[in-house]
Amino acid sequence: MSVAESLLERVADLQREAEEALHQCQSVEEVESVRKRFLGRKGALNEILRRLSSLTEEERRQVSPPANRLKAWLEEQIAEKQQQIAEQVRQQRMRAEKLDVTLPGRIWTPGGLHPLTLTINEICRIFTDLGFEVVEGPEVEDEYHNFIALNLPPYHPARDQHDSFYITDTILLRTETSAVQIRVMETRRPPVRIVSPGRVYRRDPVDRTHSHTFHQVEGLLVDDRVTFADLKGTLEAFVRRFFGAQVPTRFLPHHFPFTEPSAEVHIGCLVCSGEGCGLCKGTGWIEVLGCGMVHPWVLENVGYDPEKWQGFAFGMGVERLAMLRFRIDDIRLFYQNDLRFLQQFD
Ligand code: FA5
Ligand code: MG
Repeated sequence: MSVAESLLERVADLQREAEEALHQCQSVEEVESVRKRFLGRKGALNEILRRLSSLTEEERRQVSPPANRLKAWLEEQIAEKQQQIAEQVRQQRMRAEKLDVTLPGRIWTPGGLHPLTLTINEICRIFTDLGFEVVEGPEVEDEYHNFIALNLPPYHPARDQHDSFYITDTILLRTETSAVQIRVMETRRPPVRIVSPGRVYRRDPVDRTHSHTFHQVEGLLVDDRVTFADLKGTLEAFVRRFFGAQVPTRFLPHHFPFTEPSAEVHIGCLVCSGEGCGLCKGTGWIEVLGCGMVHPWVLENVGYDPEKWQGFAFGMGVERLAMLRFRIDDIRLFYQNDLRFLQQFD
């Protein structure tokens, strides 16, 4: 058999082989490797074309056209196969990604503000309307601001390790927002008119009205000619706006080391309307805040002349106010993050 004849036979074989190989192809990658095998630089067809140069003119005329036809045919077949597979893949994806536009949409449940946040916002809004500024202080405090400057000397029972959470011997989690009073007065000259909301910590046994971590809003006003009547009027204006309705209020004499005179404000229990219930422990009244006229020694501690300036201060329990406002009879509900509870305040 002449070289030309064997080459012609090879061309015919290649066509059959290529047909078979393409038929087996399942993916674009497989088609690509078939293309390389037959049409690549080192592919089967190039090998034949390379050998044409060793043929005579006559032989070349015999072999060349079928070899070139095979090449054209292969290119066409491969392109067709590639298109076919691409279309199959597309169809498969369309089937897999099919959307059912008749399905109901996902329901979005945006979060709401926590009832304590709502209460703090409301308290601050009332006092800013009355001309107070909102400031914040640190939750980790030193003994000086939390105790000493507030007239709580080392032997005072409130300073006992058993009542507070100490971090070091002299650093603790603040037990009351009153520490902010000192920080504000240290950095400003009178007149001062601020409220300061925030978290406080005490080693109190937990029950329906007590938590170890709770919130207060501190209030402080310092000016000349401030009297106890201003304190009473301000707090009564607050209670009227916060509770709306005619809520009974009472001021009871009390003692705080940093105010003189001092008082506690109680509010008629809104859960039982004063009848007596578990929340008010049968008394019909609930303590919501402590207050008084800023002690002259405290003013001296921050460099204010007590002969010239007077002030009043108060510290309200946010949880207690929220409980009365929303008729919640257990403080622990605020901290459990039970959606059934929280969703009632959206
Ligand atoms: C004080 O903390 C004073 N600093 C308040 C004050 C400020 C007086 C400025 C004078 C001038 P008292 O310990 O009573 O006071 O707490 C104030 C309020 O916080 C209470 O009326 C109560 O509503 C709330 N409270 C106190 N302890 C707890 C607790 N364990 N859990 C929840 N609320 C509490
Ligand atoms: Mg008290």
